[in-house]
Amino acid sequence: MTSTQAVITGWGMYAPSKVLTNDELSKIVDTSDEWIVSRTGIRERRIAADDETTATLATNAGRDALAVAGLDPSDLDLVIVATASPDYLMPATGPLVARDLGAKRAAGFDLNAACTGFVFGLATGAGFIGSGMYRQVLVVGVDLLSRYLDWTDRNTCVLFGDGAGAVVLSASEAPGGLLGWRLFTDGTGAEGIIIPGGGTAHPLSAETLDGGLQFLRMAGKEVYRYATRQLAESTRAAVAAAGLRMDDIDLFLYHQANLRILESVRDLLSISGDKVYVNLDRYGNTSAASVPMALVEAVAGGRVQIGDRLLMGAFGAGYTAGAAVVEWTADPARAFLAPGEQTRAGQPRREPVAAASA
Ligand code: ACO
Repeated sequence: MTSTQAVITGWGMYAPSKVLTNDELSKIVDTSDEWIVSRTGIRERRIAADDETTATLATNAGRDALAVAGLDPSDLDLVIVATASPDYLMPATGPLVARDLGAKRAAGFDLNAACTGFVFGLATGAGFIGSGMYRQVLVVGVDLLSRYLDWTDRNTCVLFGDGAGAVVLSASEAPGGLLGWRLFTDGTGAEGIIIPGGGTAHPLSAETLDGGLQFLRMAGKEVYRYATRQLAESTRAAVAAAGLRMDDIDLFLYHQANLRILESVRDLLSISGDKVYVNLDRYGNTSAASVPMALVEAVAGGRVQIGDRLLMGAFGAGYTAGAAVVEWTADPARAFLAPGEQTRAGQPRREPVAAASA
């Protein structure tokens, strides 16, 4: 009996062009390049322009993913936008992105698992495909947290950046694609990373604005401990769910929050250093976008080949955590078909072969 697999057939990313370096930040808050690099590994991040929103970032990444997959927007059945920084509380960003892509047939909704959103989105998309409900699903991880940061709070504003990453998940009868995943939440950590204002608990008012409740707050040390433990646990659980062993994983694409967290997880799991992908030095923590942006850059940089097993893992507000194992089935050179240069970057200049599956 053949079962329907969810395979990645398209991918794309978009990061705003404005670069904010640590040295520039140190003119805004009491910090230094030395402090930020030694505690986090971050050197610079991207900040959205005034005319950009979460939906425009997501649409740019989604357009690239569709082109790489060789799909017309109207082929999409579903658009899942994983974000914790939507354009509006209502409507959701999914319908805006579906509209702007021209995905007229698609249903669209948002999924909020903060920085773990893309991993939750992959599992959700695969669920829709595995059940036979849909065949073409766009999963976008996107956040524009620069609009939710207190730029006088050095504990948070140095950590985050804006960006978007997207994949097309397609139904396939061939083996490969999402092999296994595990998702976790621990609501006892709800206060660990929180934007307290603007929801029903603390509706926007002059008082909540005066108190700065509209800004992201974080208990850094507590998050650090949770992240390290739960990223390792999620990795083990997802690898087991995929029926694999740790040695079978070719590349670990983790949420890019802090280099020290990645090094701790690498040591806890005895992963060899070059298997853990790192690009947080150039983007900071882009929240739900960080895993798909890492994927797109890894493909563009020649780090991903057909048959490779990729582990994507993340943690974030909620707390949430999760990991998914993907067997790569697409020709990496298809990235060349993307209109956006960030998705194409570093690609060998050869003709891509037809889509690997679906
Ligand atoms: N520049 C200079 N000094 C700073 C800065 C800064 N930007 N930020 C904090 N400090 C100071 C602190 O005030 C503190 O000073 P004090 O001792 O006088 O009070 C000192 O530096 C040390 O601070 P620590 O909190 O001990 O620094 P730590 O080594 O824990 O690093 C960090 C802080 C980087 C935030 C770390 O705890 C961390 O990475 N935590 C995890 C955060 C994370 O991954 N968040 C992702 C959230 S995902 C999501 O869903 C949004």
